[in-house]
Amino acid sequence: MNQQILELLRVQRDGFVSGQEIADKIGISRIAVWKQVQGLKKLGYQIHSRKKNGYSLQAVPDLLLPAEIRDGLKTRVMGSKIHYFPALGSTNDQARKMAAEAAPEGTVVIAEKQTSGKGRLGRSWFSPAGHNIYFSVILRPPITPALAPLLTLLTGVAVASAIKKTCAVNIGLKWPNDLMVKDGGYKKVGGILTEMGAESDRINYLVVGCGLNVNMSPAFLTPELKRTAASLHTYIKGARTVSRVKLMKDILTELERYYHRFLSGKWPEIISEYRELDILRGQAVKVKQGGEIISGKAGSIDDEGRLVIKTGAKTRDVVAGEVTLLKG
Ligand code: BTN
Repeated sequence: MNQQILELLRVQRDGFVSGQEIADKIGISRIAVWKQVQGLKKLGYQIHSRKKNGYSLQAVPDLLLPAEIRDGLKTRVMGSKIHYFPALGSTNDQARKMAAEAAPEGTVVIAEKQTSGKGRLGRSWFSPAGHNIYFSVILRPPITPALAPLLTLLTGVAVASAIKKTCAVNIGLKWPNDLMVKDGGYKKVGGILTEMGAESDRINYLVVGCGLNVNMSPAFLTPELKRTAASLHTYIKGARTVSRVKLMKDILTELERYYHRFLSGKWPEIISEYRELDILRGQAVKVKQGGEIISGKAGSIDDEGRLVIKTGAKTRDVVAGEVTLLKG
């Protein structure tokens, strides 16, 4: 209902819409309209009310509210349901719970802050409120679990494309899915964590979680994080603040576009796009895979999304692991 009221107010942005008109169009009482408006004000919407003229939308809050993300969003699958939380332990944990309870494909969980944000390899993900994006999306691709890593790569390409569109910042991908910006060396501005619920031959659900540092000032980062991490706005002309809502919409749009291509068998094209963004290719790297350390030169990503490492005359395919770029 909030969504419907906001839609009516948006049509008359800065003008007034009478309580009666809203009530008639939505089919509720004027008192119910008033109550809904109070709720919107509590969320941070600035709505002027005048007895004679009704309500006027003056400003929307800088929050990743579903009503804002849905406004003008044209996707059919991604964001079919959007669950918003001012704070959560981890959007991935929440999305996994919902996926196990049969939430539909494309369900998105967003939080303004995470108290136990999770990174890859058991690390934590720094998730303060109000500046960044933390979301997870539920996918149910009809593929075998072995192909699940392709969805992680796809998400990297899709998010990089959305960032390019909204922020005009060039993103490089560090396999498997660190979102990096060239800044002398490279700094990490985002990461992706994919978790799966599966049987031996079929995926029940994938939860793809993405954390993006968007408007966070470097002052938030510890000296250690400052060396390796950064925020997108630092790389935008004039260090302008990014509209997180706009970026979120573009991410969902791009995710849907790439996911559709994936489902129609076009994943070799997506791998090709990944290769163009790959920052490891040709670089000296060290990979920790399980207990083993593999050192060599990174080759291309293969057609199944594995990282190929050239070690002398041999090549090794890496399925999962932690890659360190070696200088020189
Ligand atoms: C990494 O680079 O290690 C992956 C980081 C993934 C962080 C995101 S934030 C939203 C989602 N919820 C989590 O707990 N983790 C992912």
